[in-house]
Amino acid sequence: MALPSRFLEELRDKVPLSTVIGRKVKLTRRGHEYTGLCPFHHEKTASFTINDEKGFYHCFGCGAHGDIIKYLMDAEKMPFMEAVEHLAELAGIKIPEMSQKQKEQEKKRGDLTTIMEEACLFFQAQLFGLAGERGKKYLIRRGISGQIAKQFRLGYATSGSALTAHLQSKGFDIKECLNLGLIVKNPKTGQYHDYFYDRVIFPILDRRKHVIGFGGRMMEKGEPKYLNSPETTLFHKGEQLYALPNAIEAIRHKNEAILVEGYMDVIALHSAGFTNAVAPLGTALTEQQIKILWQSCDEPLICFDGDGAGRKAAIRAMNRALPILTPGKSLRFVFLPDPFDPDDMIRKKSPEAFAQLVKEARSFSDVLWDTLISSHIIDTPERIAKFEKDIQDTINLIQNNTVRLYYQKDFKNRLWKLTHAYRKKHISLNQNRSYQIHSPTPGLAHARMLLAYAIYYPNIIASFLEDLAHMTLPDHILNDALQKIVLRILDFPDIDATTLEKNISSEVLRMLSAEFEMLKKSSKTDNEISYEIKCILQQSKKQLIQTEIDNKIQTYTKNPTPEIWENIKALKKEIEKLSESE
Ligand code: GTP
Ligand code: MN
Repeated sequence: MALPSRFLEELRDKVPLSTVIGRKVKLTRRGHEYTGLCPFHHEKTASFTINDEKGFYHCFGCGAHGDIIKYLMDAEKMPFMEAVEHLAELAGIKIPEMSQKQKEQEKKRGDLTTIMEEACLFFQAQLFGLAGERGKKYLIRRGISGQIAKQFRLGYATSGSALTAHLQSKGFDIKECLNLGLIVKNPKTGQYHDYFYDRVIFPILDRRKHVIGFGGRMMEKGEPKYLNSPETTLFHKGEQLYALPNAIEAIRHKNEAILVEGYMDVIALHSAGFTNAVAPLGTALTEQQIKILWQSCDEPLICFDGDGAGRKAAIRAMNRALPILTPGKSLRFVFLPDPFDPDDMIRKKSPEAFAQLVKEARSFSDVLWDTLISSHIIDTPERIAKFEKDIQDTINLIQNNTVRLYYQKDFKNRLWKLTHAYRKKHISLNQNRSYQIHSPTPGLAHARMLLAYAIYYPNIIASFLEDLAHMTLPDHILNDALQKIVLRILDFPDIDATTLEKNISSEVLRMLSAEFEMLKKSSKTDNEISYEIKCILQQSKKQLIQTEIDNKIQTYTKNPTPEIWENIKALKKEIEKLSESE
């Protein structure tokens, strides 16, 4: 029902946001605003703020943001109209009457659902009557009990024109029955006959349990296996989910929905106690359907068939959801063994086997990552670069800034781990003596500082591993410690300071105690620390080049040749370049 926007404004004005949120969240007043612990994510310090004047809430932690209606829909899981009614009651105002046109539309809709309801009752009666013997046998063969058939209002459409005759006898307008896709007109004979013909019928109900369409399954092999009602005024396939009214309570209660491909899958799952199962209506999952699920739970499970088509459909669902991910709202994926569908899993394996697969559901980011990897070979710098670019392009599709940022961080980390084996092969570790003559050697003070940084901030030092691996420290104990640290970080890029410290001998830790003391007291930012490390490394490099220049100059004074002179000039240029980049 469309509501005048003035009325919604009035509701927002009359009911202070803080009183509604204050029912669940302990709020503290701070100037014009209230703050409290965010109800949308787990936190220990308050980053959730409410501004009654402006009528919105905002969380600086997770980015949740909205007005009072959005709060009720998201935090208290109310559908839109329920939220409006609830607020109208709190405000003590009446929901405005509909306009004449709206009233007519509602009435028309009511008339149409009456016809659909009549058709549904007719199909149900057929199934349980004499004519329905074939349908009943079919359902029994598929393991569907009478109780489940009633619960899902399953029916049977006979051959012929029984429904057409029935609806006409009830005095319904034939044109409307045509528009609802229940009846078709034979263009040659001009005769009316039923749209569904010798099929088991699965009624499709909207949230208010009004029948809006049907799916019909053939009982023998043939095409089309399922015939669905066409798009009508009532029935929009992309905006509905099969069995949502049956599943909504369980979805809310468990904060989890299982989305499967077929009607039969839904029914098998409900029979086995997975009462939070729903399905799209024979078409690919739409953005709207994802959003409908997000109104009632945070991370719906996508559980498509284990065959190639099912896996492709899961990827398509992922691409649909990627741009619209928001803090807390995502999808997870359950993968079934090929070629099982959920119905097969329940009946040929067991409900427990299915439950186990649900437990092993994979996160959106894991599946996205795997999908990206499977289309790339990562073995040369160019290919790694292309991979990185494709990751970036994919992540950039995420519209929500916070979610996008965390995906960037997460995938950067994954890329680091993935290319680690490659890097390890290419970083020649400085362990052979002959090499040391040409490796940069910082002064002892710098060496100690560098090592202390490496132990204290392994995550920062990780960006300098290549340089560190080629470095020789002036003390062999410190030098060994440095090589060990480089190897450790290569193997465990995520290693934290405490774990790393455990790998360092107490002798080295003692040698660095003054530096640690200093780091403990310092309040430098990551950037400042990075900068200092860079300076130390550059200075060591400069020193190395300077030593070489000095050596060359000595040679030159004994034996001045143009080549040596050119050599010295080149080395001096290198030092200048290093100084410029500082
Ligand atoms: P069963 O063979 O009865 O177990 O079907 P299923 O539940 O395993 O369904 P399947 O994976 O074959 O198809 C999934 C869904 O796609 C069905 O529930 C229908 O909504 C739809 N569908 C399947 N076949 C057809 C068809 O031939 N035409 C149309 N329009 N939709 C179909
Ligand atoms: Mn099936």
